[in-house]
Amino acid sequence: MVFRLKERLGRKFEEEVQFFRCWQRDKKGVGALMPTSVHAARRMASVIRPASGMPVLELGAGTGVITKAILDTGVKPQQLVSVEYSKDFYNRLTLRFPCVDFRLGDAFSLGEVLAERNAEQFDCVISAVPMLSFPMELRIALLEDLLTRIPAGRPVMQITYGPLSPVIKMPDRYIVSHYDFVVRNIPPAQLWTYRRAV
Ligand SMILES: C[S@@+](CC[C@H](N)C(=O)[O-])C[C@H]1O[C@@H](n2cnc3c(N)ncnc32)[C@H](O)[C@@H]1O
Repeated sequence: MVFRLKERLGRKFEEEVQFFRCWQRDKKGVGALMPTSVHAARRMASVIRPASGMPVLELGAGTGVITKAILDTGVKPQQLVSVEYSKDFYNRLTLRFPCVDFRLGDAFSLGEVLAERNAEQFDCVISAVPMLSFPMELRIALLEDLLTRIPAGRPVMQITYGPLSPVIKMPDRYIVSHYDFVVRNIPPAQLWTYRRAV
């Protein structure tokens, strides 16, 4: 028991150091100083319907905190497709979760990154891509792309650190909802969902 706790704390510390190093190399691309907290990760994953049998799409997996929360909902590792831009994070993720379908690439070029899985429909999207680091036109284009990959009514879940939705409202195109404010995260995080009207 004590050994397990030590092992877990050791891994957490190692992840935080890795995250900080990646942030030092690419502040805009990583977009946060600390990994997402387990509390925020669980809230994000809570929208998944594992019983749907549909795959789930994750964007910006980083150290894998959200990946773990997604798998903890009962989604099978083979049913999780996860896109990560940084080779350092990607290499560690593939070792830690060998059965998850990780794709090294850019979430803004999903057609290319998903390749043979491009035509699949996902239950929902769980995204930690640092939206605020990209121009608004790209954020909207990414969201529009994601909404074609999930059924109407199902959410794109996005974490962000600003007070407002990182994608502007367009009521004729999609519905924007504030989902939660997670204080137990450094910095406190806002969760937003986006969906097409049913
Ligand atoms: C704020 S961090 C969150 C990571 C993760 N939730 C964690 O706690 O470790 C954002 C992540 O998105 C990744 N990322 C940034 N731009 C991306 C892009 N265009 N496509 C895919 N991933 C991207 C970064 O490499 C980083 O891992």
